[in-house]
Amino acid sequence: MQAFNGLEDVVAAHTCLSHVDGARGELIIAGWPLEQLVQHFDYSATAALLWQPFLPELDAAKISFGLGQSRLQAWQALKPFASKIRSLSALDALRLGLDLTADLPELEDQVGVIATLLSAFALNQGSDSAPDPHAEPIADLLRQCQGLTTAADPAFVKGLTRYLVSVSDHGLNASTFTARVIASTASDLRSSLAGALGALKGSLHGGAPGPVLDMLDAIGTAEHAKSWIQAELSAGQRIMGFGHRIYRVRDPRADVLKATLEQLSCNQDLPQLQHAAAIEQVILASLREHKPDRVLETNVEFYTALLLDALGFDRSSFTGVFALGRALGWVAHAHEQQATGRLIRPQSVYVGPKKG
Ligand code: ACO
Repeated sequence: MQAFNGLEDVVAAHTCLSHVDGARGELIIAGWPLEQLVQHFDYSATAALLWQPFLPELDAAKISFGLGQSRLQAWQALKPFASKIRSLSALDALRLGLDLTADLPELEDQVGVIATLLSAFALNQGSDSAPDPHAEPIADLLRQCQGLTTAADPAFVKGLTRYLVSVSDHGLNASTFTARVIASTASDLRSSLAGALGALKGSLHGGAPGPVLDMLDAIGTAEHAKSWIQAELSAGQRIMGFGHRIYRVRDPRADVLKATLEQLSCNQDLPQLQHAAAIEQVILASLREHKPDRVLETNVEFYTALLLDALGFDRSSFTGVFALGRALGWVAHAHEQQATGRLIRPQSVYVGPKKG
């Protein structure tokens, strides 16, 4: 029974989208090792890579152009609901954005739903400035979120782009599996994304990076780290940003995001980076002592928290930013499921009473 609890080791799909090698700590997305992908592909180009197996007519230029037009359409549709969208958590705001545009056929395809998420996110962040349909979508999103009248700093745009590309796909994680289950029923793309957003919200999946910063605040100085962590572990708490279902070594995304932060620190003073890296080492040592038989290494969320904080995002929005990256993968998986899969319908073992 226990073996089935988290479906570990169960193969539920064949995919050409990404491969997670948990033993070697390698991630391949659409054929590219993560470390190379982030150097060569921006947001629209990553979308094209992931979507082209199912939508060969779409290239990066068409996606970028389409996102510009559709972000503006979504913005106009959502603007009247700005105060409601602003009042919600980032993930709930994205889901509401999808619902509020459900009657707009021009926003129902892959470009339309991604554009809807981008505009809903900007509104959730309090932006008052409409998208520029001719601008590169991520540079323009950052301009909107930072309330700028001129273009966002290119170093920040590069940092955000690298983050979004890094998290664009990752095998059959919980939110992607959710998207595929919904797609397998022949439901629409918007429903797949809405379900995936719900799965991403939990702290065991996408909800960890905000609490990572809370933890670093609570620890304070590196000297307090050991006693703080040990008290948490003794109380049965999990340490956010550490451990992974698949990786038995360090999550490769942690290294890519740390390197991105180091590049950003050439433009901006980031004393918190060194401080956090010192605390990370204390946490890793404590986790090794606490669970000597289980590898609990740094996962993507630890450096996500530091990077998104350095880019100026509020910690309450971190999971929303994650969703903007992962949504590229959700769309691809929904298409792949419908092109190659069947209705997903596992069995359960009845352990309840038998009466009568
Ligand atoms: N801190 C302390 N103990 C941990 C941690 C952690 N971060 N992660 C796992 N453990 C312990 C568990 O308590 C468990 O102990 P037990 O056997 O005594 O019950 C043992 O290690 C094995 O844990 P599992 O639950 O089997 O690990 P699983 O593969 O299910 O969990 C998960 C993976 C959910 C990521 C887990 O490591 C965790 O909760 N981490 C903290 C939250 C986090 O960082 N989430 C983001 C993950 S990355 C992503 O989804 C994008």
